[in-house]
Amino acid sequence: MTAELAPTPNPSAAPAAPEAAETLPLVLAPDPRLKTKTKPVTESDRATVRALAPRMLATMYAAPGIGLAAPQIGVNLRLAVIDLQAEDQKAPIVLVNPRITAASQEEATREEGCLSIPGQYADVTRPASVTVTYEDVDGESHSLEAEGLLATCLQHEIDHLDGILFTDHLSALKRNMIMRKMVKEKRLRKQG
Ligand code: NI
Repeated sequence: MTAELAPTPNPSAAPAAPEAAETLPLVLAPDPRLKTKTKPVTESDRATVRALAPRMLATMYAAPGIGLAAPQIGVNLRLAVIDLQAEDQKAPIVLVNPRITAASQEEATREEGCLSIPGQYADVTRPASVTVTYEDVDGESHSLEAEGLLATCLQHEIDHLDGILFTDHLSALKRNMIMRKMVKEKRLRKQG
């Protein structure tokens, strides 16, 4: 990971924990770490998850983004964070070992982007609503029924944990076009 890839911390947007936590460098596509299925979080990972979650949230808020999965900071664990709320009413969700247990027949198409694929957006069609089970940082189990943007965001982040990017839902033509742009972008960042 080169220093050029590190997002700039934004102290003005970080008045309190977990936003006060230090940000982490983002992994940009194409990168094999983004194409790897992650390992489930076990009891022995609990301390790591407790330390990482605030930093992942800080990184996501600073970007800014509405979701971030562990592979995007180079960590191979089934862990993601989401917050769809506006700056002044933060409502972070930390998802440990999230799993989609039900998905609607009905589909919805929404424009998606990704912090690992900056500047690139495309329409992705997915189930319109999903049920997700997950654990919180304390290992407590939860179930969440979601529709709309939250349903899209949950599926996008859980995809990351399975080594799938939103571009994998596009035609090969569109995907290759975006990845060629990313290769160029990464080359430029390395030179800069
Ligand atoms: Ni993403």
